[in-house]
Amino acid sequence: MASTNLLPAMLQAVMKGQPKALADPHYPAWHLAPVTGLLNDPNGFIQFAGRYHLFYQWNALGCQHLHKCWAHWSSADLVHWQHEPLALMPDEEYDRNGCYSGSAIDNNGVLTLCYTGNVKFDDGSRTAWQCLAVQNSDGGFDKLGPAIPLPHGYSGHVRDPKVWRHDGQWYMVLGAQDLQLQGKVLLLRSENLWNWQNLGEIAGSGLNGLGDAGYMWECPDMFTLGNCTFLICCPQGVAHEEKRYLNTYPSAYLSGTLDYASVQYQHGEFAELDAGFEFYAPQTTLADDGRRLLVGWMGVPDGEEMLQPTVANGWIHQMTCLRELTERNGKLYQQPVAELQALRGEEQCYCGMAEAMPALEAEQLELVLESKGELTLNFADTLTLEWRCNELRLARRSLQTGEWLYRYWRGSAQKLQILCDRSSVEIFINDGEGVMSSRYFPRHPAQLTLRGGAEVQTHYWSLRSCM
Ligand code: FRU
Repeated sequence: MASTNLLPAMLQAVMKGQPKALADPHYPAWHLAPVTGLLNDPNGFIQFAGRYHLFYQWNALGCQHLHKCWAHWSSADLVHWQHEPLALMPDEEYDRNGCYSGSAIDNNGVLTLCYTGNVKFDDGSRTAWQCLAVQNSDGGFDKLGPAIPLPHGYSGHVRDPKVWRHDGQWYMVLGAQDLQLQGKVLLLRSENLWNWQNLGEIAGSGLNGLGDAGYMWECPDMFTLGNCTFLICCPQGVAHEEKRYLNTYPSAYLSGTLDYASVQYQHGEFAELDAGFEFYAPQTTLADDGRRLLVGWMGVPDGEEMLQPTVANGWIHQMTCLRELTERNGKLYQQPVAELQALRGEEQCYCGMAEAMPALEAEQLELVLESKGELTLNFADTLTLEWRCNELRLARRSLQTGEWLYRYWRGSAQKLQILCDRSSVEIFINDGEGVMSSRYFPRHPAQLTLRGGAEVQTHYWSLRSCM
């Protein structure tokens, strides 16, 4: 049975919840977050008719992973965002257990959404439909229904369509799990968005020399940038290494070349997309000016998320900042979009010994720091970054057990650009060679202090609120 109309309860949840969320000292001042309930994946990221649109997985009714809708923001400048009418609700048989993740395209001037209708059965099994919806004149979306049923040879875990246009045809990558419970990415092609041909598996566990690479690949995204075709994905079940893939679920990418004619994707090894504690399900889009932009969910669906203190205030999770991707030597570099500089207040500088630097207000801060390393950055005694000559180590206590947990970026860091909000820190390393994104829940006022005898050159700005 299709779920009953959730709208009245959602309206009430927003009216009751929003004041509480906005009064929470951990509610972001300049990152996107839900006004109540749970936010997860970014969806449908696109620049359409000049304006940016970002949709997201949203449960308005609570902080659990239930009742997934597509909510919708838009922006002229990637900094200031406005709420748009709710785009999709799980109110049809074919999406009754959630309007799951997907993408947006410009189909001849019509803003069109492609998403997964998730259907669960009483015996614990599920199926999935890849569905279409188009924008109407009220700014909402009309569902057109399912275009793709579950392909043969796969479990009910087939989802997260990312669609793009190439040589006059539509292409789609889909995350999938085969009947041997191996994670895969499928490539499909269509002339009209309705009739799709499954061209086959282009990457996954056991393919192209990858070995065992997990049981389900979520949220694939494929694009060409510079000299490479990248496949971003979230391969669930990839083994934790000593210093990599330490989150419950990782976000990674492959770099290679896609031959559309023979449906061959030649690629190298996995690389981690973000080495912090919270980063998942990123999505990219090609902006009108040619930039490849990325936004991710600064969260991970793990056992600890419900212990975040914001849950007591009725909301959970936020997006990362908007980032620009570039390709250098086959690697993806990520940097905050230039537009975010509009949030900067007056520039300040400090050069000298790290430990002699005055403490900074860490709540809304951008800090650019150059050093030869061997120093520690302490974020409100809640998160610390140890900068060593051949690695960065980020430390935070488990919300569950109180023990220290660590995340690593391996390499020689010379320069960090650190963007802080009220409960998040994003550390961009060497002009985007690496990133570590993490939430933290400091007491306010939160201070950032440096320790260690190393020399540092810094520039910093307090960041204005814009949400
Ligand atoms: C990733 C994910 C997607 C799914 C969505 C549901 O976080 O599990 O695979 O479409 O979230 O909210």
